[in-house]
Formats: sequence, C-alpha cells, structure tokens
Amino acid sequence: MTEPVTWLADGSPHSTRFNDRYHSCAGGTAQALGVFLMGCGLPQRWQGRPLFTILETGFGLGMNFLTTWASWEADPQRCEQLHVVSVEAHPVAAADLVRNVQSATPPTDTERPLSATIAVRVHELARAWESLSPGIQTLNFAQGRVRLTLAVGEVQNMLPDLNCVADAVFLDGFSPQLNPQMWSADTLRAVAQHCRPGTTLATYTVAKDVRTRLQTLGFSVAKCPGLPPKRDRLQAIYRGAADQPASEVVSETLNSPGSTQSAHTAQTLASAPLASHTTG
Ligand SMILES: C[S@@+](CC[C@H](N)C(=O)[O-])C[C@H]1O[C@@H](n2cnc3c(N)ncnc32)[C@H](O)[C@@H]1O
Repeated sequence: MTEPVTWLADGSPHSTRFNDRYHSCAGGTAQALGVFLMGCGLPQRWQGRPLFTILETGFGLGMNFLTTWASWEADPQRCEQLHVVSVEAHPVAAADLVRNVQSATPPTDTERPLSATIAVRVHELARAWESLSPGIQTLNFAQGRVRLTLAVGEVQNMLPDLNCVADAVFLDGFSPQLNPQMWSADTLRAVAQHCRPGTTLATYTVAKDVRTRLQTLGFSVAKCPGLPPKRDRLQAIYRGAADQPASEVVSETLNSPGSTQSAHTAQTLASAPLASHTTG
C-alpha cells in the first residue's frame, strides 16, 4: 500500500498523515539547491572525490535526490560515484514521483537546465521504484555511478541498520512540531553515528530543540538566511562526539540576507577538511 499524496490547488504535494507540505512553496528544486546542497557545501565538496555519500532522512517525493543527481550530472568535476542513502517509512506511488516533477512550479533561469534533466531522470527513478519493498535495497543509475540506497521503514529502526559513513546529511522530515520522531534526540544521535569529523549537515528548520540536540551531539551549527518565504535555514559541521555542546557559529543576530558572516560560513563548509571515509 503506497502513501497517498494530496495535491494542492497550486499543484504542490501535501501529506494528510502529517498535515504538512512535502517541500517549500518556493519549489522542490529551489529548496534542494538553496537549503540542502548549498547548506552542505555542494557541489564543491564532492569535486575530485572517488566517492561521496549523502545520508537523508525522509525520501518523500525524491526531489532532493533528483536535484542532487542532476547537479552531479551537470558538474564536470563531479565525484566518480555518488551514493545517496535515504530513509522513508511511507513510500509514495511511482506515479506520484512523476506527477510531482510534472506539476512543479516553472523553473527559474538557474534551475532550467537541471529541471530538464530531472524531467528525464524521474522516469528512470519511477521504473526502479516499482520493485521497492520494505527493508534496505540499492537502486543503481548512471551505469552504477549514482547509487540510491533506500531504507524503507521507521527512521529509528532503519538508521542503526545502515552501513554507511556520510560526507553530508540532509535532514528532511516534516516540520518538527508535526513529525517529532524525525527530529528526536534518538534519531539525531543515530544520524550522528553515521558522521565523521567534517561531515556537513543541512536542513530547512532552525527549531531551537533541533539546534541544541545537534550541538550536544558534536555539531557546530549555523543559522543562515533561508529560502524565501522562510527567514532562516540551518547548516552544520560534525566536529566529533562531544562531552560539551559545540558552539553555535553564527549568532542569532546575523541572519540578514547577504550577511558576510553567513557567506564566510558557507565558504568554510565548502572547504571543510576532509578525512578518509568508507561506505557500505
Ligand atoms: C518533507 S518530506 C521529505 C521530502 C523529500 N526529501 C523530497 O526531496 O521530496 C518528509 C518525509 O519523511 C517521511 N517520514 C516521516 N516520518 C518518518 C519516520 N518516522 N520514519 C521514516 N520516514 C518518515 C515522510 O513519509 C515524508 O516522505
């Protein structure tokens, strides 16, 4: 049984189970680029690497995956292999993955080339999606250079079973008030167990509890100007398991768009020191 999606009047997808939108009203591609890729220092951080692994909580309609794949494809300096590992308890129907792309808000000039790729790649994803079953499975695309490991099940059950070390993390549950399990201390601890020093993390929420939990787990956390209409977004770097909470690297007063401190933090993320990594 697949998860039903409600389509709002403007064509955007909504979850009745969680009473929330699947992505920003600015559009799924805009959110993927402006919150998740940018917040994790991508595409720069994957350039020249043999392998780059992204862990995502909440696969949803796959817009983060498709936008990441299209960005990777467009990057002449892309890593040899891109591995996205994503957890999803309530997979939608393959037809809804396609409908979401087809009903997307018109792309901006920046998004247009990526949107054209996404419009093709979503059919490859939808074909592979038909064989999806509960548990962990890997789908291969781009002659095996793009791998999608999908863990179909509850986030707290699936995260400990994943054999991967993430270079970047996309936290993309529904809003913390409506979907608390995706942001609980236990879930974020299980995410941190897949991180190494230098792993970058991004999300659209700057909820205080989420920031505090991440800091307690050893992340340095920055509030940055958000994708309108949201004022803020969050980006973070894992510094290693901490006894003491890590510092908040951008103060709450430095949120104005174009803030030089935020630009500096983005630069820091792009050049975050990299350690060796392994993946399953
Ligand atoms: C905001 S949507 C994700 C959007 C997605 N990243 C995209 O690019 O389209 C949040 C997703 O988290 C999933 N989810 C919510 N609670 C969950 C849980 N406890 N375990 C696993 N997945 C969960 C929902 O089913 C939903 O698909």
